[in-house]
Amino acid sequence: MAGSEEVVPFDYDSVKEVADYLLTITDVRPKIGIICGSGLGDLANQVENAVEFEYSKIPKFPVSTVVGHAGKLIFGTISGKSVVCMKGRFHYYEGYSPQKITMPVRVMKLLGVEILIVTNAAGGLNQNYKTGDIMIINDHISIVGMSGIHPLIGPNDDKFGTRFPSITSAYNKEFRKLAMDTCKELDMEDYTQTGVYLHLSGPSYETAAECRMLRAWGSDAVGMSTAPEVVVAVHCGMKVLGLSLITNMVVMDIDTEDVEPNHEEVLETSKRRAQDMQQIVKKVITKMNIS
Ligand code: HPA
Repeated sequence: MAGSEEVVPFDYDSVKEVADYLLTITDVRPKIGIICGSGLGDLANQVENAVEFEYSKIPKFPVSTVVGHAGKLIFGTISGKSVVCMKGRFHYYEGYSPQKITMPVRVMKLLGVEILIVTNAAGGLNQNYKTGDIMIINDHISIVGMSGIHPLIGPNDDKFGTRFPSITSAYNKEFRKLAMDTCKELDMEDYTQTGVYLHLSGPSYETAAECRMLRAWGSDAVGMSTAPEVVVAVHCGMKVLGLSLITNMVVMDIDTEDVEPNHEEVLETSKRRAQDMQQIVKKVITKMNIS
């Protein structure tokens, strides 16, 4: 676990204090929570009647440190549905514990959120993918979680969920279909994929040998986020939709002369596809059967 960070509230009563505070400063009662990935923060521009709160102004809320990750909680509506959007998320490589990374998901739960939409930037492992593809996540492998760096380690609070939750169907089947149908309607079928997201800690990108191993393990894209938030969301009974933007193709061969992965390329591709990601999320929300 990360070293000298401050402790963030993760148990029911403390998280409830944060949620109750937020409910006093906004009238929005969100049913849908959205987490924006690297360079995808403009998704928050889709929020109408937006009321924004900087993380640093919310007592006991974590603050993010990465370039491309603003730190704001945005309440409002998308297509008439009440939402709360995290513009800027937290990562293990920032030195935060998995509990701290996922605490906002529990806050969302206690705000009344039932559906979580997560987006991220990811490296393409599947050689049929191209930079700029959008991947609807159907499952994940969390190397971090499997190593014991898992957000649900520690005393279990039954008020959130059971000690041993199943996450076999973490990425809701109905939502996956909804997302795929939506991408087809938006003429994005040519660059829409469905696949397995592999979560590792970062912050270094993977070696070529690691990439070959990850691919052999059955993963299609690799990134440094999402799985912890999804596990905590499923634990407390939320339904999840996950979307990865393939911002770069990973290097599988050390003799490749191609450019190596870098954060600028990630942000550049995110910018190029930002509109598409926004359109998908907006249209999917329009179709979600929730008030
Ligand atoms: N590896 C890990 N995380 C990433 C990558 C990558 O290639 N691209 C965007 N996030």
